[in-house]
Amino acid sequence: MRKILVTSALPYANGPIHLGHILEMVQTDIWVRFQKLMGHECIYISADDAHGTPIMVYAEKQGISPEDLIAQVRREHQQDCKDFGIQFDYYGTTHSEKNRQWVETLYQHLKNQGHLVIKPIEQFYDPIKNIFLPDRFIKGECPICHASSQYGDSCEECGSAYASTRLVNPVSILSDHAPILKSTEHIFFKLSDFAPFLKEWMGKDLQLEVVHKLQEWFKEGLRDWDITRDAPYFGFGIPDRPSQYFYVWLDAPMGYLSSFQDLCDQTKQFRVEDFWGSESQAELYHFIGKDITYFHALFWPALLKAFGLRTPTNIFVHGFVTVNGEKMSKSKGTFIRARDYLDHLNPEYLRYYFASKLTSKVTEVDFNVKDFCQKVNADLVGKVVNIASRSSHFIHQYFEGRLCGALFEPQRFEAMLAKGEDIARGYERREYQKAIRIIMQAADEVNQWIDQEKPWKLVKDKEQLERVHGICSLSIELFRLITFYLKPVLPAFVSEVETFLNAHINRWEDRKAPLGEHLIHPFKPLLSRVPQESADALKEGFRI
Ligand code: MSP
Ligand code: ZN
Repeated sequence: MRKILVTSALPYANGPIHLGHILEMVQTDIWVRFQKLMGHECIYISADDAHGTPIMVYAEKQGISPEDLIAQVRREHQQDCKDFGIQFDYYGTTHSEKNRQWVETLYQHLKNQGHLVIKPIEQFYDPIKNIFLPDRFIKGECPICHASSQYGDSCEECGSAYASTRLVNPVSILSDHAPILKSTEHIFFKLSDFAPFLKEWMGKDLQLEVVHKLQEWFKEGLRDWDITRDAPYFGFGIPDRPSQYFYVWLDAPMGYLSSFQDLCDQTKQFRVEDFWGSESQAELYHFIGKDITYFHALFWPALLKAFGLRTPTNIFVHGFVTVNGEKMSKSKGTFIRARDYLDHLNPEYLRYYFASKLTSKVTEVDFNVKDFCQKVNADLVGKVVNIASRSSHFIHQYFEGRLCGALFEPQRFEAMLAKGEDIARGYERREYQKAIRIIMQAADEVNQWIDQEKPWKLVKDKEQLERVHGICSLSIELFRLITFYLKPVLPAFVSEVETFLNAHINRWEDRKAPLGEHLIHPFKPLLSRVPQESADALKEGFRI
């Protein structure tokens, strides 16, 4: 049995869960559910990322304290995730006492080991609102292409990245006034101290795209990392530096660890050292989006190393969700919140759709409503559910709901079992697209076989009834295997199927035993086609 700890990135508490988060969580959740089916101990952790200037400003705008805001947002996030069938073993928050303790201890370690350096820096400051401005709080003209109204870190028009001090005619988005430059002293983490270790870490089995990125960053040189923010800020204060705080990105990944500790304390089932100690034999994986690779591939392993803790076994990076080929963006009307989707459509449709597109590559995943409807209807309803609906009817009409004992064509059952190996490999390697393709081909084959056998014709001849029993019973056995293969992707649907079949499979190995002579419940529609009105209603709220 493997011991595995898995995380999804911690969503910021300053906004709702959206389809991008859902892609990541669905990818992770499928993987975790698969590992559990294989009989491994697999723990899935996430949390809200509750600190930073945007959260503070957002709370202020709403006239509530940041503490109240993050508590409320955390409830909403948890509900959204739950409704999408995301099964966390624990969902924490970075704004916890335990996390503060970890961060303070880490700081002491870094300081004692000489990995920190203090340097003066100049930053933009809003003299009206009396606050230092993060890059995203400054707008101005792009210094390269001169597009107006671009953020302080990069230009959406020409894609250039630059220091905010290079923006032409910068203004603070909080006051609409020109910011001034103000100098303070900040603490930096000397990432380059860890260059040899990180080079070695890179030798792991990372995705090719990640290796290439890392090579690029190494070539540019590992720069010192500013881990300080000036008051006012919402976060953890730096113990020996009044009115300065730890940068949110220092305490955010610590949230993986402190949330896991919360789980340990709560359940007393696991021990922190077993998963995080330098000698830990457990596996540790972080599922993340490509935009936060730098933090997870460089800073985080280096911090863990400095701390004397184990480093991740791997990081699994995915690409971004686009909507009808466009970046999700509020201004373009393509920003879809999880709740908007849930208001109209069955979450399992989207789990299936994402699974059918996900690979182990860092490529974008497009949500296209037309394609989505077509795929769900054709595959899940037209191929999978169809097998049960056309066979179970006769089982009830002629055989009192009882399957026949012997397998009509044992080699068909064996062949379906054998597919389980490739499907399992697909899940394990995060090649869900491949796994789904094999499953749907299997469903096609079963339907074609039923078409050839024509049980609806055979039932007219009394002599042939036994044959009908054999065909329909085997169809149900095959249907059971096919739906079982979909269990990591469609937990709610498969649970309905299990009720209908009056039998559960909880381990990958257990699928090998056929139902045999067994009573099944009358068929009821297990999954309906995507209601066109609902799809239209979803589209209506957006420009998609
Ligand atoms: N709070 C940080 C993560 C800290 S982890 C120690 C953060 N939060 S986020 O809310 O912006 O993003 C959370 C996760 O969602 C990240 O992995 C990010 O890449 C992912 N996504 C955000 N938008 C996305 C898409 N449009 N598409 C796919 N994933 C996206 O970053
Ligand atoms: Zn530009």
